[in-house]
Amino acid sequence: MFISFEGIDGSGKTTQAKKLSARLEDSGKKVLFLREPGGTEISEQIRQILLNKKNLKMTQISELLLFSASRAQLVTEVIKPALAAGTIVITDRFVDSTTAYQGSGRGLHIGGVKSINALATSGLMPRRTFFIDIPVAEMYERRRSSGQEIDRMEMSNEDFYQRVREGYQEIAADEPGRFITIDGRQSIGEIHAIIWNEVDGLLHTD
Ligand code: ADP
Ligand code: TYD
Repeated sequence: MFISFEGIDGSGKTTQAKKLSARLEDSGKKVLFLREPGGTEISEQIRQILLNKKNLKMTQISELLLFSASRAQLVTEVIKPALAAGTIVITDRFVDSTTAYQGSGRGLHIGGVKSINALATSGLMPRRTFFIDIPVAEMYERRRSSGQEIDRMEMSNEDFYQRVREGYQEIAADEPGRFITIDGRQSIGEIHAIIWNEVDGLLHTD
């Protein structure tokens, strides 16, 4: 089973993806947790290029292709073999990040982005995607309180993140069967309970 987590920066994806992975492991399942961009040697090198604040000359198309290259490597090298071996794969971001950030956020042609996505994943899609939705103001608030240094992507302005959030909301409307929207302003425990309920249900129907 393949599950992905999506949302704007700081929405709580990593917290929830790790919590779900740990609980599945505790219940005796084989689980693989991965983050995008990254997860293979080549993908981690591409991540460095993408997030390096010095790379201000990066064009939007290069950005799209680099995120996709990182993913193509991850799908072939890691995700497909793991799924074939019966492992539950949980990713912190996947192809919907490209649709939302490069498509809706940067304003690249959505049809073109979706074609590149299909090529990078060879059509592999998550069974469920949890979209943890927070307002952009909440992202800034969490960023302030965490005090973490920002990367190249995080240098984007508020309007960009607003478009990214709306991009996710559009995917949610287009694919209600796969894409599950959760209000990210609830507590960590409340959000986890919603996710667990869904995943536990899937495990029992498989
Ligand atoms: P992301 O992976 O989406 O960037 P993180 O899981 O790293 O998000 O969380 C970003 C910050 O918000 C962290 O400081 C985390 O402790 C905090 N956080 C996560 N979930 C919640 C929540 N439900 N309510 C309040 N703060 C949260
Ligand atoms: P990361 O530090 O992993 O951020 P987060 O904790 O918010 O997930 O950095 C990944 C950044 O790259 C983040 O700003 C989202 C962006 N991104 C894209 O723009 N397109 C993509 O396809 C992916 C996977 C990430």
